[in-house]
Amino acid sequence: HPSNAQMEGGSVLERANCRAKGGAPGFKVAILGAAGGIGQSLSMLMKMNPLVSVLHLYDVVNAPGVTADISHMDTGAVVRGFLGQPQLDAALTGMDLVIIPAGVPRKPGMTRDDLFKINAGIVKTLCEGIARSCPNAIVNLISNPVNSTVPIAAEVFKKAGTYDPKRLLGVTMLDVVRANTFVAEVLGLDPREVKVPVVGGHAGVTILPLLSQVKPPCSFTKDETEYLTKRIQDGGTEVVQAKAGAGSATLSMAYAAVKFADCCLRGLRGDANIVECAYVESRVTELPFFATQVKLGRGGVEEIYQLGPLNEYERAGLEEAKKELATSIEKGVSFIRK
Ligand code: NAD
Ligand code: LMR
Repeated sequence: HPSNAQMEGGSVLERANCRAKGGAPGFKVAILGAAGGIGQSLSMLMKMNPLVSVLHLYDVVNAPGVTADISHMDTGAVVRGFLGQPQLDAALTGMDLVIIPAGVPRKPGMTRDDLFKINAGIVKTLCEGIARSCPNAIVNLISNPVNSTVPIAAEVFKKAGTYDPKRLLGVTMLDVVRANTFVAEVLGLDPREVKVPVVGGHAGVTILPLLSQVKPPCSFTKDETEYLTKRIQDGGTEVVQAKAGAGSATLSMAYAAVKFADCCLRGLRGDANIVECAYVESRVTELPFFATQVKLGRGGVEEIYQLGPLNEYERAGLEEAKKELATSIEKGVSFIRK
């Protein structure tokens, strides 16, 4: 059985390349960290996405295996694998969307910030590759701590002269997915009917669900509000503890990442009214980065929505969130500037 590399000059891959070049409608997507817990499911789900014509799977380990496996799926996207840093630029060249779930996950007892030491350097290296090889791509950053890795990415792009804040999005979709699920449970509704805006950032108290703005309109008791807010804020820790040392959320994250990536691709295609929450450069608060609902379009983030009316509980939560966020943002910025 020929490997991907052995097929490089062969007719099968040539035909696939031809099909990809021949303007099969769709976008070119790279996944960095594709062999990981999130990466594998995410790669499988993106291979099933009809908006994707080319799928590049990059990792520092096991990328050929995951690629061979996924490439057998009889869906439209042409899949290519890339292993190790010497192949990073090839993985990124020509991409419309780059999704980054590369980096170490938490173990019980750790905060997301404890991952900074290792993941900051990984994100820096990968973003330097993006600046060189696909500076116009939309970037969906999943690697934790998202509150700091997004500022790191912004600084790398600024240094390279390629920064476009509209194209850099920290993925907070899992917080929204969890919020929809937990709120639907309390209301006795189907989660697909529920939409909860979650703003702020992606760690502990920086995760701020706006329960006063849930759609369909509803109200919660004080106990329900406290239960739901805490459960949404601690959703990641709930999974880390249940996995007991075997990592953090991967399957629900892959689902959330694909849901978000699909919105970005539909925005790129020109679909109207694509609104989702994401952690982006923002003037909604005095902080340089903040997650709110944003409108996605051909250029990435086309509009950033204000917070809307908050109740007293949410106003207090916002102050808490901003304190922690300010520190995490500063930590990311100074990692590159110093
Ligand atoms: P994992 O350890 O299973 O997978 C990570 C993958 O990254 C591995 O395959 C590893 O080889 C790869 N990797 C490491 N260094 C790399 C590099 N320099 N270049 C390319 N790939 C590299 O971890 P996971 O469970 O998939 O989680 C990945 C990251 O996503 C973690 O930081 C985790 O905290 C984060 N995460 C974020 C969210 C979110 O909501 N934003 C949710 C869940 C997990
Ligand atoms: C999550 O929210 O599940 C992720 O950020 C992973 C984690 O460490 O909790």
